[in-house]
Amino acid sequence: MENDSTNPLTGKNILVTSHLKKYYPIRRGFNPFSRQKAKFIHAVDDVSITVPRGKTLAILGESGCGKTTLARAITLLAPPTSGEISFDGKTIVDGKKADVNFKKLYRDMQMVFQDPDSSLDPRLKVRDLVAEPCKGLLGVSRSEVDAMVMKSLKAVGLSAEHAERLPAQLSGGQKQRVAIARAVAPQPKLVILDEPTSALDASVQAQILNLLVDLQRNYNLTYVLITHNISVAEYLSDLLIVMYAGNIVEQGPTASIIAKPRHPYTVTLIASAPIPNPWKRNLLNTEIKGEVPSAINPPSGCKFNPRCPYATGVCAKEDPELREISPGQFVSCHNVEKTA
Ligand SMILES: Nc1ncnc2c1ncn2[C@@H]1O[C@H](COP(=O)(O)OP(=O)(O)OP(=O)(O)O)[C@@H](O)[C@H]1O
Ligand SMILES: [Mg+2]
Repeated sequence: MENDSTNPLTGKNILVTSHLKKYYPIRRGFNPFSRQKAKFIHAVDDVSITVPRGKTLAILGESGCGKTTLARAITLLAPPTSGEISFDGKTIVDGKKADVNFKKLYRDMQMVFQDPDSSLDPRLKVRDLVAEPCKGLLGVSRSEVDAMVMKSLKAVGLSAEHAERLPAQLSGGQKQRVAIARAVAPQPKLVILDEPTSALDASVQAQILNLLVDLQRNYNLTYVLITHNISVAEYLSDLLIVMYAGNIVEQGPTASIIAKPRHPYTVTLIASAPIPNPWKRNLLNTEIKGEVPSAINPPSGCKFNPRCPYATGVCAKEDPELREISPGQFVSCHNVEKTA
C-alpha cells in the first residue's frame, strides 16, 4: 500500500477551504430611492480545496475565472464573503468571521503576486523588500533579519550586490527572483504563487520553475500554484483544480487529468492540437467557441452550458455537483459519460 505521506490525496493537509465565496458588490452612483437589487460579481463561488503538506496544488483557468481572487481570499487580503478556511490545523475563517493572529499567519503563509512590477515598491532596495515580511517576526533581531535576507537572496541565485539595487535596476527574471526571495525569507509553510512565470521569456521561465522545485525541496514548502499554462501545472503540480467562472469544474491528480480530462471544458483546454513547443500550451491561445460568461449575471445551471458541445436540457436548469468519476478525480458535469 502507498505510504500515507507520499500519497498526494491522503497526506496530511495544510490548507482546507470549504464552500468559500468571494463576491464583490457592484458600485453604482448613490441613489437612496433606487429599487434595484444590489448586484454582485461572483468572483469565487463555492470553492472547496484541500492542499496536502509538502505538495503542489495547481489552479488552472482562463483569465477572469477567479484564480487571483481565490488566492486573495485565502490570504485574507480580500476577506471571503462566506465559507471556511483552515490553515495548519487551525480554523482561520468560519463563515464571515476571521479569527487569526496576522503576524503568525503571514510568517507561515506567503504569496508571490501576479505582477512583480506592481508588488515590489520601486523606492525600496532589494535588501529592504526582502526584509519586509521578516521585520514583524517576534523575537527576531535586526542582524537576524539581515542574515535571513542574505540567505534567501542566495537561495534564489542573487548576490549581495543585488541587495543594494532598486527594482528598476533588475531584469524581469531577477525581479521575479526577488519576489520569490521575499516570500521564502520568513521560512513560511505555504507559498501561493500567482502566475510566477507568465511574464517571462521561455528560457527564464524554465530557470524560475527549476528554482521553485529546488526551493520546495530545500525549504519543505507547500505550493498553491496559479497558472493558465497547462505545461507549468504539469511540471510543478501533484494535484490540479480547473476553474471556470468562479467554480471548480474538475479536480484530481494532475497526471490523471492531463492523461484523461473529463469535464468538457478541461477536454477542450487540454486536447488542443499538438504543438512543437509544449511551454506554449497556454490557455490564452486556446479557442473555445462562445463568450466567457458574465460574472454578474452568470448562466443558470452549469455555467459552461452555453459553450458546451455536450449540453442537454438539464444543463441550463441544474448546477451539477462535483462527482468522483475515477479514484481521486472529480468532475461537475451532467453528461460526463459523453467524454469517457
Ligand atoms: N477588487 C475587485 N473588485 C471588483 N471585482 C473584482 C475585483 N477583483 C477581481 N474582480 C473580478 O472578479 C473576477 C475574477 O478576477 P480574478 O482577478 O480573480 O481573475 P483571474 O482568474 O486571476 O484572472 P487573470 O488570469 O486575468 O489574472 C473578474 O470578473 C474580476 O473583474
Ligand atoms: Mg489573476
